[in-house]
Amino acid sequence: MNNVLLTGGTGYIGSHTCLILLKQGFKVIVLDSCISSSSKSLEGVKKVFGKDWDSFSDKLQFIKGDINNFGLLKQLFQENILLGEPIDGVIHFAGLKSVKDSIIKPIEYWESNVMGTINLIKVMNLFSCYKIIFSSSATIYGINKGEKIKETSDISPVNPYGSTKATVERLLQDTYLSDKSKWSIMKLRYFNPIGAHASGLIGESPLQSPNNIFPLLMDVAAGRKKELKIFGNDWDTFDGTCIRDYVHVMDLAEAHVKSFEYLFSTEPACISINIGTGKGTSVLELINVFKKVNLVDIKFSFTSRRKGDLSCVVADNSKAKEVLGWNPTRNLSDMCRDGWKWKKSNPYGYK
Ligand code: UD1
Repeated sequence: MNNVLLTGGTGYIGSHTCLILLKQGFKVIVLDSCISSSSKSLEGVKKVFGKDWDSFSDKLQFIKGDINNFGLLKQLFQENILLGEPIDGVIHFAGLKSVKDSIIKPIEYWESNVMGTINLIKVMNLFSCYKIIFSSSATIYGINKGEKIKETSDISPVNPYGSTKATVERLLQDTYLSDKSKWSIMKLRYFNPIGAHASGLIGESPLQSPNNIFPLLMDVAAGRKKELKIFGNDWDTFDGTCIRDYVHVMDLAEAHVKSFEYLFSTEPACISINIGTGKGTSVLELINVFKKVNLVDIKFSFTSRRKGDLSCVVADNSKAKEVLGWNPTRNLSDMCRDGWKWKKSNPYGYK
């Protein structure tokens, strides 16, 4: 196994995963429409290799295109077969990801996230490529009582974005059940990825104004925003602000490599796994660690709760440890330091 297709591979998590796969000796084909990311992230990946890039340059191919384009996908799989290097597996990052937008434009979300995946699975089936890792999300879980979330917890998404992720999980489960001797499927349920590669050469670069806390917090630190509005200080948590499970994007990227190792060394299966550190951090704690590690000021004020927010979302990550042998190695200080290094050197992201 060494030829991997990354749909949505120029995005935040995709580009970090691409870097690790190349370093591990994989040949990587990135397919991305770039409607919400920039192919300049791949230039950043090349810069991380520096002088060594020459020996990797034939290992990375970028194709601009949409997963809803059946003909293009077919051509891609076919070409690689003709070259004698069939695509061995797919990591499927492509999709729309804003909760807010999904409420305004649900059809676009269903079309991109669900129909796009159906298209991809059809083409994979056509070319006998049966290994896929899917970017799922902790968003699919329903309201929890504050305890760590297990993979067996209720699936009950509260917005269209979450519904599309839960539906694709179901679709993949049905695909697996259609022939249990064929498909090897890993559904990774991400908690809150933040940070950047330690070089500061690749990182998160939202094309639209961000809604997530980490890019907003860095905008405040960089003086591009006056203050951070904290959504509520009356939650039933120790300091009144919401608790989340922040995970370093490089640890998350490594989980994909571990997942491939698993899928290629075991019997066909369809598995869901939480990818989080298992440690909860409040909004105020995140701000304080960021300030301390980076010696910057972050102005904030409290405002009312955001609709749809939950008090506490933390992973039980024991399955990731047991099944994949995945152990996050970077702590919150690393996430804050690496994220800030990226932001300081690239205040406008890839723009
Ligand atoms: C959000 C999405 C989730 C997605 C995840 C990662 C919602 C309801 N959920 O999760 O579907 O998978 O991002 O992309 O949007 N906060 C503030 N002020 C801000 C922004 C956030 O106080 O300006 C707080 C939030 O209340 C929350 C925490 O920061 O407690 C994290 O927020 P965010 O980064 O948006 O992630 P989630 O809400 O966990």
